[in-house]
Amino acid sequence: MLKLNVKGCESFVDAAKYDSYVKKALHAFDVLESEKGAGNDFLGWKHLPSEVPASMLREIEDIRADWAGRGVNLVIAIGIGGSYLGAKCVIEALSHNFGKQLKKKDAPEVVFAGNNLSEEYLAELMDLAQERNVACIVISKSGTTTEPAVAFRIVKQFIEEKYGKAEAAIRIVAITDAKRGALKTLSNQEGYKTFVVPDNVGGRFSVLTPVGLLPIAAAGLDVKALLEGAREAEKKLAVKDEENPAVVYAAMRNYLFSELDKKVEILVNYNPKLTYVAEWWKQLYGESEGKDGTGIFPASVNNTADLHSMGQFIQEGSRVMFETVLHVEKAQRSVVIEADEQNLDQLNFLSGKHVEHCNHMAELGTRLAHIDGGVPQIEVSFEKVDAYNLGCLLYFFEFACGVSAYALGVNPFNQPGVEAYKKNMFALLEKPGYEEATKAIKQRL
Ligand code: PA5
Repeated sequence: MLKLNVKGCESFVDAAKYDSYVKKALHAFDVLESEKGAGNDFLGWKHLPSEVPASMLREIEDIRADWAGRGVNLVIAIGIGGSYLGAKCVIEALSHNFGKQLKKKDAPEVVFAGNNLSEEYLAELMDLAQERNVACIVISKSGTTTEPAVAFRIVKQFIEEKYGKAEAAIRIVAITDAKRGALKTLSNQEGYKTFVVPDNVGGRFSVLTPVGLLPIAAAGLDVKALLEGAREAEKKLAVKDEENPAVVYAAMRNYLFSELDKKVEILVNYNPKLTYVAEWWKQLYGESEGKDGTGIFPASVNNTADLHSMGQFIQEGSRVMFETVLHVEKAQRSVVIEADEQNLDQLNFLSGKHVEHCNHMAELGTRLAHIDGGVPQIEVSFEKVDAYNLGCLLYFFEFACGVSAYALGVNPFNQPGVEAYKKNMFALLEKPGYEEATKAIKQRL
């Protein structure tokens, strides 16, 4: 199980006042566990790790094996927001940094589409697809989101032209609502294998449903270990306790926000494999808390790279932020810095040391410097970047998000604000039914 350490906040915190935030977080924990709070029809994610049906895992494995038998070496996963970030973050975290360049062929490459509307992106994706043996997973809970729908129309036509309609129906799997939406209608008509996004699981909490698990399995990664880690977190976090890491995280971030005006939380990593964990986390916290004119703005940095870009601001700019650092205890590969006779680079003081030791010292040094610069530090530490620890981490952030948002006083499970841009986009694209909105928006231009 991961560990949470808030020692790096101590010098900023008034203990008596902080205690009231622990009480608030414990109350929020009760609201989440009683399943009586706002948005309580979206709590299906809470028991996904312990209740994942074995039959669903078998179906996922059957698809992976069938595609392997057909020689599929490129899986295009189409989706946006919660319908892509979970799979993307796990795949990036568990894959070799240079797998593509090394042309590792033990599993298909999974690439993502439908998360933007760039024409160049889609054209270049088709360049890649031309060269490869392709399958597709199309994911949309609502089944009506424009970005994935546009990408899927193009990828579907490509697959049908390349393999014929009957074979296309085997190479395309849809993940969507049980009954509603254009994607469901289309899948029924075309005879695609479909998986259901449960009604009571919102997009950003769906990584442990087929939304995340199928692309992760298609990439040849260990979904069982991922679920095992999540199960461990589900069990440990269900215990009501002042030491519960979700309660501590919720209490501290709400304290920093409300008492010290820390409006920005930066998730910090020191391992490039965790870059997309931060992207997933930003959606989770941004969409869950950023509403009703309140919420902490979630941001991220990838260190040590960003110490040479954002480091100056974090050390000395506007004092609006705190940091949550992902501390990985050990590297799974070994690179030792050897002594050099000439020592022209003057690095012999590091000889015999592992590179990860230097990384850890950079992390520690940065953390202390940032405390001195007025940036409170929360640390989330775990043993290594593997499927088990990642499962634990993802579930921790989901559960803590529920507690934290309830402590803040918002409904964690809705996202009314994401509709605003869609209305304008449809009006500008002159979608049928938007005639009045089209007229109105054109007057503004
Ligand atoms: O968390 C959410 O609910 C959203 O980010 C959705 O995942 C995103 O908008 C995509 O929606 P859909 O899966 O309906 O296409």
